[in-house]
Amino acid sequence: MSETKKIFIDTDCGIDDAVAIMLALSSPEVDVTGISCVAGNTDIDSVIKNVCGLLSFFCRTDIPVYRGFPHSLIGTKLNADDVHGKGGLGGVELEAIGKRVEKKNALDGLLEAAKANPGLTLVTLGPLTNIAAALNLYPQLKGLIGEIVVMGGAIGPGNVTKYAEFNFAFDPEAVTSCLSCEMPMKILTWDATVELTFTEKEYDALDMGGSEPGDLFLDLQRFYMNYKERTYGKRVINFPDPLTMACVIDPDIITASENMGLRMVLDRNSEKRGASLDAAAENQKADGKAQVITECSRDRFTSLIKRIKDYPC
Ligand code: RIB
Ligand code: CA
Repeated sequence: MSETKKIFIDTDCGIDDAVAIMLALSSPEVDVTGISCVAGNTDIDSVIKNVCGLLSFFCRTDIPVYRGFPHSLIGTKLNADDVHGKGGLGGVELEAIGKRVEKKNALDGLLEAAKANPGLTLVTLGPLTNIAAALNLYPQLKGLIGEIVVMGGAIGPGNVTKYAEFNFAFDPEAVTSCLSCEMPMKILTWDATVELTFTEKEYDALDMGGSEPGDLFLDLQRFYMNYKERTYGKRVINFPDPLTMACVIDPDIITASENMGLRMVLDRNSEKRGASLDAAAENQKADGKAQVITECSRDRFTSLIKRIKDYPC
């Protein structure tokens, strides 16, 4: 097995973030050096509570958790209670026994982890607020972080508006700022997420029940499946953050990607605000380039996600 990959996770810990973190903890290919919290799916205090509860559940209270921004760079928020429930975990309550957030803030926590692990992979599962602020405050991070792997954006239809995906819509200025740093970046978009949607039959075939972590997986996803049925009229499910984490754990899962210049729409009066445009296609100047993941292997993802059921906690 190749060397364990040191990763640092930034999350707005909702339902799919929790599953992505469970997947990382269940995978020997990656070593989680720290987790920073950012407002997004729910408020920052609930994000912190969810992450601490998850690490306590998985007996990994050794992993430091850091408090980040409670809103976007310009002080705004979006609400995702309909998708993730109040508190962010679809009504699931996880008790943080013996686990508290660090005194050090998210920006300093990321810098500490990057200095201790040069070449670190930064995995972002929420709005990019913390990351934009950290790169601005500590430019030396550009030489310490090996790669940023981002869940966000939509080249086709979005999930917050028909143009924009949630993480990018929550803080589009932060996305522009991160893109302009010209660091090695992969982006798993909403398009690639939807491309790997599971029907209820395919989801049930994962057969995740029968262990504590497997039962937690099912409890978390129940709310999201019901949301999908309520809003789209079909009992289907997709996994934006877990698929992003899977691309870090097993890069061979990526079956198609495109090196793309992206341009964010920032106009606060535009219905397209938060959209991530293919700059070349729109004949616009790019904010920066990224490897946009457009397709992943369903079989490889399925075999990875099943690991959660067998986590020995
Ligand atoms: O648009 C999906 C993304 O927004 C996921 O990361 C989800 O957790 C929310 O943060
Ligand atoms: Ca997320």
